[in-house]
Amino acid sequence: MKYHIQTLGCQMNFSDSERVSRILENLGYESVEESSKADLLLFNTCSIRQKAEDRVNGQVRNWAQLKKHNDQLIVGLTGCMVRTSSTQKSANKDYLLHYLQGLDFVFRIEELSRLPELLRETHADHSMNPASRLFEMDTGTLQNYFNIIPKYSSRFQAYLPIMTGCDNFCTFCIVPFSRGREKSRTIEEIMKEAQYLVDNGCVEITLIGQKVNGYGLSALDKKTDYFSRFQSRFGGHPFAALLRELSTLNGLRRIRFVSSHPDNMTDDLIETIGKLETLCPYVHLPVQSGDNEVLKRMNRRYTKERYLEIIEKFRRALPNCRFTTDIIVGFCGETKEQFMNTCRLFEEVRFDMAYISQYSPRKGTVSYRFMKDDIPRAEKAQRFNDLNGILRRVSRENNIASVGSNMEILVERCENGICAGRSETFRLVHFPGDSELIGHFVPVTITKARDFDLQGEIAFKHKGQR
Ligand code: SAM
Ligand code: SF4
Ligand code: F3S
Repeated sequence: MKYHIQTLGCQMNFSDSERVSRILENLGYESVEESSKADLLLFNTCSIRQKAEDRVNGQVRNWAQLKKHNDQLIVGLTGCMVRTSSTQKSANKDYLLHYLQGLDFVFRIEELSRLPELLRETHADHSMNPASRLFEMDTGTLQNYFNIIPKYSSRFQAYLPIMTGCDNFCTFCIVPFSRGREKSRTIEEIMKEAQYLVDNGCVEITLIGQKVNGYGLSALDKKTDYFSRFQSRFGGHPFAALLRELSTLNGLRRIRFVSSHPDNMTDDLIETIGKLETLCPYVHLPVQSGDNEVLKRMNRRYTKERYLEIIEKFRRALPNCRFTTDIIVGFCGETKEQFMNTCRLFEEVRFDMAYISQYSPRKGTVSYRFMKDDIPRAEKAQRFNDLNGILRRVSRENNIASVGSNMEILVERCENGICAGRSETFRLVHFPGDSELIGHFVPVTITKARDFDLQGEIAFKHKGQR
């Protein structure tokens, strides 16, 4: 039996798909690149913007067509669009099973342990049931799906989820509804997975979560024995304690984290990050808008001034620190002048990269219900282009300033004699080399700047080089 997973959305979904793969491979499935060769097609969905949902609808319809050539083919869906784990046979069916023709089952990712059961139920619909022997897995041990060791896609880099969910309720955002309340894993669980990764050759770990620096601080966390004991014994920021623990792992060269929130960026956390050698001098800190009125309407509980203060503190603690961000343009009621404040913020912080989104109303959110999506489509597109223009210019200028410097690049891939990898500050660098360098740290001298990447050459012969 062959499976194929398509993943949309953030790093959390990418990591979740690695866990789904582990379960499927334990059941005897093999992964295939081409969807047309699969017996099981799975979509791991994102609901952050309408565009992402539309892509899912189109793809499921295309996949359903493949059933004409393979009557064993089943199509499933997980991720942020799913509300109720169910199959076409369930009494209480998820809304998606009603309106997406050809969809056989869906599951909430937190209920990944139910996947074998849902597959069995779905297969019973078919005349043959070739997978029946595969459903003997002990699902009782899989209650917390984060404790399923993923089928990591890289041997030297990994995403490691430390928390999930979000309690912030930004007025535009669906995540608190799709992912639920903030909940953190224990330091012991995280260390166990990190140790496993390092023992297996991983040199770079990216800690992931919707709000990683809210780690251990949510209302649900504080209700647990674990985090309440933690607070009374150690005080301070649990995320800082976690970072300190992780940085003791021998062999782990780089730790990154994404996404953090200005809310929980306390001084002691910034100081800890500044002191730990393995922590990369790179912070992805979503700001969403450079205007205080818009920030208030978004329910982002900080001001532009506070955001700039955090950036300044990072620069003091880590002089080489680089920043990236997320921005929404055309949010409800955003005037031209308010948008200009975002442009001014971009000039001030000089981000290396920004994920710029045009506001898209999401059903169920506060902005959808109570605010008017009053910026015309063309104006949103214009603001997107204007801001992207500033980003492109600033990023190019930042890159030009790096020409002549040396960077240590962890090589991620190599095609036609050109290697690509990232510096500790997350700069994308291309240089001539061979595929033996993949997974190695290579010193590179920067020779040329482009808008969003750098080119260079190996500074001296690396031992992986012949
Ligand atoms: N937790 C992160 C934070 O605090 O900013 C962001 C996580 S969210 C999954 C990823 C990004 O999607 C957001 O930063 C925001 O820019 C964008 N986004 C979320 N809802 C959106 C909406 N309704 N329209 C446009 N972009 C949206
Ligand atoms: Fe969404 Fe805001 Fe939570 Fe980020 S902090 S996931 S934008 S609600
Ligand atoms: Fe999308 Fe869910 Fe991530 S909505 S951005 S996949 S948390």
